[in-house]
Formats: sequence, C-alpha cells, structure tokens
Amino acid sequence: MNPRETAMQAFQTRFSQAPLYVARAPGRVNLLGEHVDYNDGFVLPAAIDRATYVAFSPSPSDRTTLVAADFGEEAQFSAATLAGKTQPDGSPLPEWALYPAGTAWALGEAGLSTPAMLATFCSDIPRGSGLSSSASIEMAFGVAWSKLGGWSRTPMQLALLGQKAENRYVGVNCGIMDQFASACGEAERLMLLDCRSLEYRSLPLPEATVIVVADTTVRRKLTSGEYNDRRAACEEAVRLLKLNMPEIKSLRDVSPEDFNRLSRTLPATVEKRARHVVEEIERTRQAIPLLEQGKTDEFGRLMNACHISLRDLYEVSVPELDTMVEIAQPLPGCFGARLTGGGFGGCTVNLVASAQAEAFARALGPEYERRTSLHPEIYICQASQGAGLL
Ligand code: GLA
Repeated sequence: MNPRETAMQAFQTRFSQAPLYVARAPGRVNLLGEHVDYNDGFVLPAAIDRATYVAFSPSPSDRTTLVAADFGEEAQFSAATLAGKTQPDGSPLPEWALYPAGTAWALGEAGLSTPAMLATFCSDIPRGSGLSSSASIEMAFGVAWSKLGGWSRTPMQLALLGQKAENRYVGVNCGIMDQFASACGEAERLMLLDCRSLEYRSLPLPEATVIVVADTTVRRKLTSGEYNDRRAACEEAVRLLKLNMPEIKSLRDVSPEDFNRLSRTLPATVEKRARHVVEEIERTRQAIPLLEQGKTDEFGRLMNACHISLRDLYEVSVPELDTMVEIAQPLPGCFGARLTGGGFGGCTVNLVASAQAEAFARALGPEYERRTSLHPEIYICQASQGAGLL
C-alpha cells in the first residue's frame, strides 16, 4: 500500500469515517550548495517523489488528534496546551508530534487560524535519512491548516513558517532550504534559491540525466548539536573577519580571494568550516552557467569537490557516505556523487546518465553491501511538485 492509502485507511480505522482531505508534501535532495543556506548562500535542491501524506478533517472538539500511521502512535493537543508542548492529560508531546504541533504554533504566532483537526499521516521518506522528512511533515500540515483555516499564503511564506516551527519549537537551528524545496519544488526541475534575497527560479535537469539517491542506511545521531556547532563556527568566522572587513554581513560577502588573504587570522577549526562555506558558495555560482550551457561533466566535478569539502573541511561525512561516493564516482555514466543534506549519515545524491542509471544502481548497491555489510536502498528519483492539497 502506498503512503497516501495508508494515511487514508488509518483515518478510517481510527475515526470511523473517511477523511475529507489529503495534503501531500515531498522530501528533497540537494545537488549543490550544502551548509550554505544559513550563510546567505545559494542552494540547488529538487523536491523528490517521496512525500508525507496527511489525511484530515475538522475536529468535532477543540482538540487536534494526530495519528502517526507509520508507527501507530497517537498524540493530542489543544490551543491551551500547544505552547507548553504538552497533551491535554499533561504528558509531554512525543518527539514526532513536535513537527505538526510546531507548525500549528508558528502559524498561530503569525495570526493564522489553525482549527482543531483529526489527522493521520504517513510518509515514504525514511526518517533521519537526510531527505527532509521533518520539513515535509511541516509543509503537509501547513497546507492542511490553510485549508481548514480558510487562508492562503505563498509557498515561500509557508516555508518560512515551517522553518520558524523547526527553529523555535522543535529546537533545530536549520536554514530555509528544506522547507523551501518541499513547498516550492517543481516537477522535473531543479530549484535555485538565493538564501539572502529568497528569490528563486527553476532550472531543467541536465539533459539525459537522472538523479539517483543512495541511502547508506546509517542514521543521524546527536546531530542537532553538531549542526548548531557548525553554525556557531560560521558566525565566529564572520565576527573575526569583520575586524578586517567591517562591511560583511555573512560569509556570502567574502570572496575566495579575501578569504585566502585573511584566513591566517582565524583559529584552525573555524578556518576550515568557513573555507568550506566560502568555496561552496563559489562552486554554486560557477555551477549555474555550467548547467545552463549543458556542461554536465563540469557540473558533476563540482558535486565531487563538494563532497571532499564536506568530508575534510566541514567534517560532516561518515565512512559509509564516503564509501558510497567512492564506489559511485568511477562507475560508467556517473557525472557526480556526494553526500546530500546535513550529513552524519543518510543519503548520497548521484547525477547519472539516464541510459546508464539502471546499471549504475545495480552495481552500486551490491558493492556497497560487500564493503560495509549494510543493505542500502538505491533508487532513481523524479523531481516532483511541491506541497499541496490532493
Ligand atoms: C539540513 C538543514 C538545512 C541545510 C542542510 C545542509 O538539511 O535543515 O537547512 O542547512 O542541512 O545544507
């Protein structure tokens, strides 16, 4: 059964009626521009054909009842218990419920109506796999509340509210990329976002290529600490670089030349983190004309360089991600391979010639399994439409 049907059937089972509506919001994969969204850089994600589905109807009471159909758990909240992150019986909201509850909280803070609902949700985005399952939950519930509340916001406004939920309610200091991709994605397109101005446009995938996602099956652990730590290093770099370049606001404003000139003024770890960001922003700047001119080989080389930088400078890779990339890069038809998302486990993204994609996937999986004894999931993915009501 697909996740949409699972969500609908779980609704019928739990509430003894069919849901009135179903909302869908996809996960994302990022091709280039990693760990730069919170440094005002450029990102190049695509929404993928894996998504969270929310089956929902208005609630007859003042309580929202949420059922996570994937793992059969239930939670409730009301307007009175929302800010305290508790359920009406006083128990804390379970971790998984913080994403929908946080979305309700952020929408409420923005003055938007979030009527109580009955909802079941289900997703085929593996949790903790670096494909933004949490952003997809936030965006799917954002769409659901906009329907029940009778208001409308642009996809970008919804993305910003989802980011606020994640930053202020869930407590992860993420950037805007994941919610943006989930809300604004377009079928068969890459989405280019300037994280400073929030202007975006879509680009076609390079001709005759597909995106292959390879899940190492290693799951992130304790990453919000590592993530916030990387952000802090970037902020520290800006503070120190300002002593010589008072005009800068973020690492976006530092060219590779300026950085090389001033890198001696930074402590070693801060220097490595900031160098990744400055060079990654430069890579994304170079990537756009390459994509537009069909120079897929060169674009792929930038993806490969990004992986090395994430591994050696930003230090967010793990051996299994490195192994997956190492096997993928020399395979026939592979233009580029690198870890995607925050790191510390999860998936790699591979840009592969369409004609060779099946053979690529068939070669990559078994060799990874031979080297790691882990059973990976490799799939050819379609860039998909962003969040909406079905
Ligand atoms: C996570 C965050 C994003 C972004 C990426 C790294 O997915 O949620 O905002 O920072 O890591 O590029």
